[in-house]
Order: sequence, then C-alpha cells, then structure tokens
Amino acid sequence: MYNLLKGKKGIIFGALDENSIAWKTAERVHEEGGTFVLTNAPIAMRMGQIKALAEKTGSEIVPADATNLDDLQNLVEKSMEILGGKIDFVLHSIGMSVNVRKGKHYTEQNYDFTTKGWDVSAVSFHKVMQTLHKNDAMNEWGSIVALTYMAAQRTFPDYNDMADNKAYLESIARSFGYFYGKDKKVRVNTISQSPTPTTAGQGVKGFDGFIAYADMMSPLGNASAAECADYTITLFSDLTKKVTMQNLYHDGGFSNTGVSNEVMEKFMK
Ligand SMILES: NC(=O)c1ccc[n+]([C@@H]2O[C@H](COP(=O)([O-])OP(=O)(O)OC[C@H]3O[C@@H](n4cnc5c(N)ncnc54)[C@H](O)[C@@H]3O)[C@@H](O)[C@H]2O)c1
Repeated sequence: MYNLLKGKKGIIFGALDENSIAWKTAERVHEEGGTFVLTNAPIAMRMGQIKALAEKTGSEIVPADATNLDDLQNLVEKSMEILGGKIDFVLHSIGMSVNVRKGKHYTEQNYDFTTKGWDVSAVSFHKVMQTLHKNDAMNEWGSIVALTYMAAQRTFPDYNDMADNKAYLESIARSFGYFYGKDKKVRVNTISQSPTPTTAGQGVKGFDGFIAYADMMSPLGNASAAECADYTITLFSDLTKKVTMQNLYHDGGFSNTGVSNEVMEKFMK
C-alpha cells in the first residue's frame, strides 16, 4: 500500500453489502490511511451489513436519506464532529430506479417513479454538494466522486430511466465542479464504471448477458468493484489535484471499442 490518503477525512455513501462499490472503496481508503464516516439510507441499515464494515474500518455510521436536506445537514455536521475537522473526500455511490424495480418499460413510465428515481440517483448529488458547500465543510483541494454508467452517452435499452438519471448526474458534476473549483479549489468528477455484479447492478434486466457482452467487448475485460475502488482512491489523493469536471471511463476500454474480434466471431459464418 502507498499511504496515499494518510490524514485525509471523508464521507462514503452507498455501502450496502460486500459487493457494493462503496464497500470496496471504504476498505481501500482504510488501507491507505484515510478515515471516514459511513452513511446510507435508514432502510439500508436494516437490510445491509454496513455495521460489519464500520467495525472492520473503525468508522462510525450516520444514517441519511440522500434526498433529505435535514438528514444531509445532520450528516455533514456530525461527520465534522466525529472526524475532527473539514472533509477531504466524498464518495456518492447511490442509484435506484423505481421504474426498473417495478418492471415499467421506458416508454411506459410512471412519472412519480421517474421523479423519485431521479431524485435518489441524480439530484441527491447536487443536494450533497450544496450541503457541503453551504457548511463550508470541504478542505481546499478536496475531491468529490460520483459513480455513473455509459448509458448516459449511449443507449442500452434495459437500463431504462437510469440512463437519463446518469446523464443528469454527470452534468451536475460539471456544473457544481465549476463553482466548487472557483470558490474552494474542490474537484468534482464522475467515474463511469463497467457493469459490476452488485445489488443495484443486478436490478437491470438481462444483467448476466450485459456483463458478458461488455467483457467480450473490452480489450482489458470488465473492471471489477475492487479495481473501481483502486481508481477512486487515486482521485481522492493529492496526485490528481487538477482533474475536475470530468466523466472518467473505468471500463477496460469498452467505451472506445467499436467491435472486438471475439464478438465478430459470433457473427462469422
Ligand atoms: N453495478 C453496476 O453495474 C454499476 C455500473 C456503473 C455504475 N454503477 C453505480 O455505482 C453506484 C453504486 O452502486 P452499486 O453497484 O455498488 O450497488 P449497491 O446496490 O451496492 O449500492 C447502491 C446504494 O445506493 C443506496 N441508496 C439507495 N437509495 C438511497 C437513498 N435515498 N439515500 C442514500 N442511499 C441510497 C443503497 O442503499 C445502496 O447502498 C450507483 O450509482 C450505480 O448506479 C453501478
């Protein structure tokens, strides 16, 4: 290990179980000497295994629904108290579509579901940053990262309204990144990750086929959750201080591959 995050303090959203990208990231941050508060929606506290992660990493848990401004205010205040000062890094690793959950086709959305999923998956990122900004809670050269998927740029039919949520999320990273950079030298980026077998990932219809196809299309193969955690800690470190307002693909090369020989072979007579 490299001690990349020694002395850095943060907040990690979205660790549900050991498959979660946020879980793997918390473990890696801990290995690199960072300290953090873990947070998740109150309902995830009951369903998930976040307590085991907290014990393992010596962290405290502060529940917060990321769409609720009072919860977020409490989270930011408590985190600064617990960690003894301002925050250096934040991971937003949150996604959920009610239309997907309820099996609503993209062309037949229930707009209450659409609004809820958009709030949880996209607007919550703005709410988190607005709360941090308002409380002047970030140290200079701090780093904020959210996770996204390439369906924001290219159509994957079964990704449903999550595609639109991710496009909005990525736009928030650019827009807030401008102001946070100017005001406080805080950087804001999104990581566009390969399909990954997690609870949220498996909600997508035909997910196994999706994963196998992406793997076959990627010169380096799909990126795992653990590899995503490795990439994320570089963005939290001081080695990437001038990287901001970017959507960064972490997908083994999939996003720039037209077709691979392995996929072609399936179509050759
Ligand atoms: N799994 C994939 O294939 C994949 C690919 C690219 C990007 N991502 C993104 O990675 C992120 C993390 O997802 P994951 O794959 O680790 O799945 P996951 O199911 O482990 O994590 C999703 C988290 O969102 C949390 N959450 C849901 N509603 C919330 C709310 N109102 N307030 C606070 N937290 C809430 C859940 O409790 C859960 O911990 C998501 O943004 C997801 O879209 C996932």
